[in-house]
Amino acid sequence: MSFVRIDDLTHTYTPPGRDPVPALCGIDLEIEAGEYVAIVGANGSGKTTLARHLNALLLPTSGDVWVNGHNTRDPSALRTIRAAVGMVFQSPADQIVATVVEEDVAFGPENLSVPHEELSGVVRSALERVGMWHARHRPPHLLSAGQQQRIAIAGVLAMGPRCLVCDEATSMLDPAGRRDVLCILDDLHHAGLTILSVTHSMTEAARAERVIALHQGRIALDGRPDRVFASEMLPSLGLMPPPATELGQRLRPYWPSLSPALLTADELAEALIACARAEALA
Ligand SMILES: Nc1ncnc2c1ncn2[C@@H]1O[C@H](COP(=O)(O)OP(=O)(O)OP(=O)(O)O)[C@@H](O)[C@H]1O
Ligand SMILES: [Mg+2]
Repeated sequence: MSFVRIDDLTHTYTPPGRDPVPALCGIDLEIEAGEYVAIVGANGSGKTTLARHLNALLLPTSGDVWVNGHNTRDPSALRTIRAAVGMVFQSPADQIVATVVEEDVAFGPENLSVPHEELSGVVRSALERVGMWHARHRPPHLLSAGQQQRIAIAGVLAMGPRCLVCDEATSMLDPAGRRDVLCILDDLHHAGLTILSVTHSMTEAARAERVIALHQGRIALDGRPDRVFASEMLPSLGLMPPPATELGQRLRPYWPSLSPALLTADELAEALIACARAEALA
């Protein structure tokens, strides 16, 4: 059984007094437990709408979303689904609910009725996983945005989720904050969590095992990052490959042996050094 199964999902917003807005159309999707999936697409392509269906913040207009075997339409499964799928949003400050870090992280498990004697262990473990245990007594609003985002992730981890859904969780962070959050996502993935990351950064998306590109509410591409970023369809979806992939593609006419599927600066540098060595030997 897939961890997430989405059958023919349609979502249409109906703002009062305005025309309905179709946001998702006929989405069929399966995500296995433990996968690391990036969701990309132009503004308005439906990424946030899709992400919010995964923990029942939104319900389908038609079709079904199943999380770990529970239908998100089933009110009796809501608690289980919300505990299984944690959401991390763009703005770290908006996710903070308490005036002391450890109280903020304890908020979710307290609501899930985690027994009092287990609470401090749960909070400690969550804060240690994001490297913020040292800040447990500090007011979150005095921390940097990157540190606040790590506290937000700890708050989600404290609820013991099997899956983390991040909606542009790094977009307000500086390079150091971004790197910290991405490393935490890598660690959580290696520890077995399912990771879904909505992002406008193709370099970030390239870290995932699978990239899904949305276009006008439909899945346009779905596959390994190297395959998706080598697709000629990308520009028509309003997307560019990661900078290293694009540079590699531009250099291929001069070095045809360069792979079209280079994703990172390190991979490109290694491939160019190999080309230069081969030329020197020729
Ligand atoms: N609450 C809402 N009411 C009405 N229309 C909405 C609402 N939220 C989103 N939409 C519309 O639904 C479509 C999909 O929006 P969504 O926010 O899912 O896109 P997105 O891919 O996350 O975009 P972005 O990259 O800008 O975050 C867009 O046309 C958007 O205008
Ligand atoms: Mg969005």
